[in-house]
Amino acid sequence: MMNKKFLINCQAVGSWTSLFLFSIFILLSLLSCKKEENVLWIGVAGPMTGDQAKMGIDMSNGVTLAVEEWNERGGILGKKIKIIKGDDRRDPREAVNVANKFVNEGVVGVIGHFNSSCSIPASKIYFEFGIPQISPASTNPTLTEQGFDSVFRVCGRDDQQGKVGAEFILNILKKTKIAVLHDKTTYGQGLADELKKNAEALGATTVAYEGIIQGDNDFTAVLTKVKTKNPEVVYFGGIYPEAGLLVKQMRHLDLDAIFVSGDGVIDPEFIKIGGDATEGTFLSFGPSVEELPTAKKFIETYTERFGEIGPYSTYSYDATQILLTAISLAKTIDGKKVAEAIHNLRYEGALGAIEFDEKGDVKIAPYIFWVVKGGKFEPYKPAEPEPST
Ligand code: ALA
Repeated sequence: MMNKKFLINCQAVGSWTSLFLFSIFILLSLLSCKKEENVLWIGVAGPMTGDQAKMGIDMSNGVTLAVEEWNERGGILGKKIKIIKGDDRRDPREAVNVANKFVNEGVVGVIGHFNSSCSIPASKIYFEFGIPQISPASTNPTLTEQGFDSVFRVCGRDDQQGKVGAEFILNILKKTKIAVLHDKTTYGQGLADELKKNAEALGATTVAYEGIIQGDNDFTAVLTKVKTKNPEVVYFGGIYPEAGLLVKQMRHLDLDAIFVSGDGVIDPEFIKIGGDATEGTFLSFGPSVEELPTAKKFIETYTERFGEIGPYSTYSYDATQILLTAISLAKTIDGKKVAEAIHNLRYEGALGAIEFDEKGDVKIAPYIFWVVKGGKFEPYKPAEPEPST
């Protein structure tokens, strides 16, 4: 039988061991808190995995480059800046999880998300917790129509993009019979509806209006139906994975309407997926970064560090510069003051001068049209009319 005194001693040793381990734990926690005190965290959110992963990676590269530049100059408010990535997998519910994670991690600002369907639900959380959010890519008008004074975007809006799309189809392509397709997302359907409204106002006829499902890979049923309507143009509101498949399957079905879309399609992945069928397709996006003198240094550094620039790399870089400049000017990480500083800023970025209106939209959003030619995107320049003699 065990001696009672021995048992008491064992319990005492056990308690001392627990106390010792507990003290070590507290000490390590304090040390790690101390370490974190010298760091400012910023969140970058977007699809980091899945079929749109290219977009999340481009965004996170742009953010990384800006953060590295600030850290080389000594950081900000005496602290180093670090990035936390949040993978929303283009899923609105995941976007909310990412937003909650960022709140718990104490981020001082968020660059993201990519999809409007993710940026909008996440923005409610960022706003509630006073965290400034700048989206490089989310173009649905609702994002900045919610009255959230800490929400911004450095891209344009789909009411602008839908209007220039309609003018392009009617005035440049001189076509009036349009089949409007969309991917049923906030962005895709929103853009398709803006295009439809503006095109009809200019005298076009919508001969078909159909939704497809993101992630599907066979669109022949819907395209067969669309073909019976003889459209001159198929306009698609959606993202490049589905756009590439759509245009490829259109050509297989001998549906030879001109394919026109928006900013969600401008990535070399579209051409890779759609192959030759993408030749001669059009889309709206911002001006060519390669042609902007303000982007020269950024292009050099980016390509050396990460390779080819993605469509939203530059937007993410400028968005990060804006956030960090505002923190530095406000001399605080207080979200309200940082958002105020962003509103008052005129930032000379790689994309040129960026200023925000009271809603958080950029004052100038210069959409142009791009065409796929020789397997590459290039800014579309309509042929000059022959001079009359
Ligand atoms: N512009 C696209 C969106 O808003 C990427 O979802």
